[in-house]
Amino acid sequence: MRHPLHGRRCGNGLLLRFDAAGLGLVDPGEPKTAPVRVDFSARAIQRRSRDSLRRQNLLRALADCEAVLDATAGLGRDAFLMASAGKRVMMLERHFVVHALLADGLRRAGEDSDLAPIISRLSLEQADFLDWQARRRFDAVYLDPMFPKPEKRARSKKEMAFLQRLVNQAESSRDSRDSAASELLPRALGLARARVVVKRPSREGWMNDSKPDFSYRGRLSRFDVYLARTVD
Ligand SMILES: C[S@@+](CC[C@H](N)C(=O)[O-])C[C@H]1O[C@@H](n2cnc3c(N)ncnc32)[C@H](O)[C@@H]1O
Repeated sequence: MRHPLHGRRCGNGLLLRFDAAGLGLVDPGEPKTAPVRVDFSARAIQRRSRDSLRRQNLLRALADCEAVLDATAGLGRDAFLMASAGKRVMMLERHFVVHALLADGLRRAGEDSDLAPIISRLSLEQADFLDWQARRRFDAVYLDPMFPKPEKRARSKKEMAFLQRLVNQAESSRDSRDSAASELLPRALGLARARVVVKRPSREGWMNDSKPDFSYRGRLSRFDVYLARTVD
């Protein structure tokens, strides 16, 4: 089997490589570092989605919302958690490399009979949320637009560093990066029937300095909830 993006250079020295384990992002200058790929069978993701689902702050923030738009899907971990809890999630990802990694992870997981029921609740489109023509509304819109600075654990540190290199390069080439980011929340509020949930690093302020109705706080991240009825 071949992949159309195999061998594609992605900027910042990173390269896409396709092998028996699927599509991966590698740095040819760091041959000892394992490729970054989307693997929904990985133990950490599975554990996170099995362990007392109701205690997860993201799921508490989404409450009983069933149809969710994850407008900044990234590697799809949060979307997988939502789908594990029974939600139907439409994912948007604008970066072609991140989108390709996620699409490949979904393809492989869909072939796994244990994961297939969860994957069937997920759909993915490559699009910039700010340009996307929505054909419907969603109970909730979820925003998590920024890759945080790499944190302690070695594996996530390496993944984050790769993805930050990739995505941040694309971001810095956008002329109006900050003004574009500030459009995310109003656009999300216009599409959500019930609420918008925004993930933020716990030490950072609110998106657009806009006060949420309430928040769920964890050690590293916080989920700010904006109820749709509070919006004009
Ligand atoms: C921090 S990651 C999301 C991580 C994700 N929640 C997860 O669990 O894997 C942010 C992603 O949002 C994407 N993104 C940022 N702004 C976007 C936009 N306007 N439309 C679509 N994707 C966007 C970036 O390309 C990046 O891949």
